[in-house]
Amino acid sequence: MIDAISLLRAFTRLERKRLHLGVSGSIACYKAADLLRNLHKADINVSVTVTAGARHFVQPLLFSSLGAAPVYPEMFSGEEPFAHLEPGQSCHALLVAPASANLIARVAQGLAQDMLSAQILAFAGPVGVAPAMNTLMWQNAATRANIATLRERSVTIVEPDSGTLACGSEGQGRLAPMSCLLAQAMRLLAPKDMAGETVLVTLGPTREPWDGVRFWSNPSTGAMGASLALAAWMRGARVHALAGPGIDTDLVPALPGLELTRVKTAREMMTRAEELWPTVTMGMFTAAVADFAPVLYGAGKFKKASSPDGFSIAFTPNPDILATLSAKKENRRLLGFAAETAADDAELMALARLKLAKKGVNVLAANNVSQAGSGFGTGTNAMAVVNSKGREEHWPLQGKMDVAWDLCTWLLNS
Ligand code: PMT
Repeated sequence: MIDAISLLRAFTRLERKRLHLGVSGSIACYKAADLLRNLHKADINVSVTVTAGARHFVQPLLFSSLGAAPVYPEMFSGEEPFAHLEPGQSCHALLVAPASANLIARVAQGLAQDMLSAQILAFAGPVGVAPAMNTLMWQNAATRANIATLRERSVTIVEPDSGTLACGSEGQGRLAPMSCLLAQAMRLLAPKDMAGETVLVTLGPTREPWDGVRFWSNPSTGAMGASLALAAWMRGARVHALAGPGIDTDLVPALPGLELTRVKTAREMMTRAEELWPTVTMGMFTAAVADFAPVLYGAGKFKKASSPDGFSIAFTPNPDILATLSAKKENRRLLGFAAETAADDAELMALARLKLAKKGVNVLAANNVSQAGSGFGTGTNAMAVVNSKGREEHWPLQGKMDVAWDLCTWLLNS
């Protein structure tokens, strides 16, 4: 299954960045170990501080055994006199996950009596907190005020999830899902060179019904589009992801600034894209939109008995979403895709050039969908990429997040 976590774990463009992970007292402490493993998969270096509260649930040895380095001792242990300053000097970002109500209060007040609070106070880079606590503690006016203070200071709040809590009560307070934690951790580390952009990403297939229960479609999973949505979001853009049906629910995490709209048919996708267009500064068109829609056989289920010798379906053309919007391009930057079955790289590049001109885009990425590991339903892609300035490159098979990252860079420079 391709989900956001598998796409992010294979992402290599933040490799060798350093994140400091703070772990404070919550039953969700064990999830910090999983976050550490996922960050390591993406070759991100992680150091860890486990607070005294968290040590009731997990021991620092867990994190050092999983490869975190360093794992800091308690304050005044005598081991490292300047350990409270080190993350601020060596790490690109700091995330506390889980963040207890107590830790959040200490940070809001600027207290520094324990190692993690002091490290946060001495950290000038991007900071995030992922709260986890009982609903009443989360809703308490004191916590609300502390969270508001942190937001004012540009601390990223990774909103807790709602559901059944460890104490058995229902409500908001569960540590955010792993896909959100991982994406937010990476966003803290990413450059913000797409800040101010509003990006429309179309993704997935469309389904064109031919009777009340059956449809005409294709095998797109939305992985390529979800990767672009995540990459642009990490780099500071506001993103509207416009997805066809059947997209896995775990593919596009619920993140602030990344809106997901689900549609079914090409015409619905066209309507929603046109509504969004006035607000959009960049368009990325990865959706495998059905070029034709079957003429409907009726609103109910087509019965075999009504045509025992077989039957034909007639098709009518669907709107070309990219071509329609590119005619209203103005100063927007556009990325188009091409799903091709080319005999070799030279043919793929020739098809990419043709589609760049035909669709009127700044960058065109063609994937050979007949090549193993490339195109539909894979976590990887190989591409022929061209831009309107005449730049051309063949990209070997690599993870879709890496492809998406590099396409964002091309679009910014095209
Ligand atoms: O979703 P995945 O499983 O990750 O697979 C990724 C992918 C193979 C779907 C993706 O990499 C890809 O190739 N997307 C484009 C598929 C496609 O429809 O290509 P096309 O050559 O038919 O269309 C050219 C461009 O016009 C595309 O940007 C397409 O989104 C757009 N288009 C096409 C037809 C149409 N009616 N409206 C459109 O906007």
